[in-house]
Amino acid sequence: PMISLRRMLDHAAEHRYGVPAFNINNLEQIQAIMQAADKADAPVILQASAGARKYAGEPFLRKMVEAAVEMYPRIPVVLHQDHGASPAVCMQSIRSGFTSVMMDGSLREDAKTPASYDYNVDVTRKVVEMAHAVGVSVEGELGCLGSLESGTAGEEDGVGAEGVLSHDQLLTDPDEAADFVAKTGVDALAIAIGTSHGAYKFSRQPTGDILAISRIKAIHERIPNTHLVMHGSSSVPQEWLEVIRANGGAIKETYGVPVAEIQEGIRHGVRKINIDTDIRLAMTGAMRRAMARDPGEFDPRMFFKDAMGAARELCVERFEAFGCAGMG
Ligand code: G3H
Ligand code: 13P
Ligand code: NA
Ligand code: ZN
Repeated sequence: PMISLRRMLDHAAEHRYGVPAFNINNLEQIQAIMQAADKADAPVILQASAGARKYAGEPFLRKMVEAAVEMYPRIPVVLHQDHGASPAVCMQSIRSGFTSVMMDGSLREDAKTPASYDYNVDVTRKVVEMAHAVGVSVEGELGCLGSLESGTAGEEDGVGAEGVLSHDQLLTDPDEAADFVAKTGVDALAIAIGTSHGAYKFSRQPTGDILAISRIKAIHERIPNTHLVMHGSSSVPQEWLEVIRANGGAIKETYGVPVAEIQEGIRHGVRKINIDTDIRLAMTGAMRRAMARDPGEFDPRMFFKDAMGAARELCVERFEAFGCAGMG
């Protein structure tokens, strides 16, 4: 059934596990994620960005998720709006049947320029008021995603801050987090700890100076009843980078967030883990490999089948690693 984020994450907190939030754009991603959730007997968060809505079209997105819930009636599903850039975007999602919305007020409405703290409080509080009135949960964000290595937002994926960010903007302050939650009433809070969106997060295997897992602990101690969210949590599997490179792709040396670091986060209050890039890499790698293997094949279903299998396997691994297998 479709449930609210609040309800799902309250259960996760009670049983001390984390739930992956996988980005969806098309039929194959939704099928792969649902098959994995079914296999692992896990609850799942399907999240759609404004870009996903634009890509698939609102009716298709809505109906595909409806179909997923119909096909797997036993699996708890949250349909979440990822990175809503304004209260208006959140309202559109609520009207579409989303059970959770993210109001990302860490950035201005252009989704690029860092916003003031007061602006963030203002728009987030407004969305909480509207969403809670109809039983929809709200995720806010405090601090800007971005690299502690370079002070920039990472990959040019359309989401993230522009220009060089200060250390302060790149790490969420625990006291400010407590004030933010008290003023807005959000159900979940995305925090900045040095991760960024996309494949290019770190130029080396991250250590504590560029990935501040310790900051999670400090924030969790201040706001123990707020569910923490880790964005930019793809692990960027080196195996998939190699498959892509071996089959005509060009991806530079890069590293993601190790699963072990996410597990450390889960021990300190992280309940929602956002993953988009890993599914993109697995699907692209699988499709490139399938096309190279059989150059005469022209039925796209053959490539999509490989892509779905790769995505499904990756999702099962994350469900198991985050402790939510068997919790569906
Ligand atoms: O937060 C970013 C997600 O990876 C969604 O990306 O805006 O390209 O759909 P997108
Ligand atoms: P990745 O790019 O690391 O998969 O992060 C996705 C994300 O945070 C979506 O909100
Ligand atoms: Na989100
Ligand atoms: Zn994100």
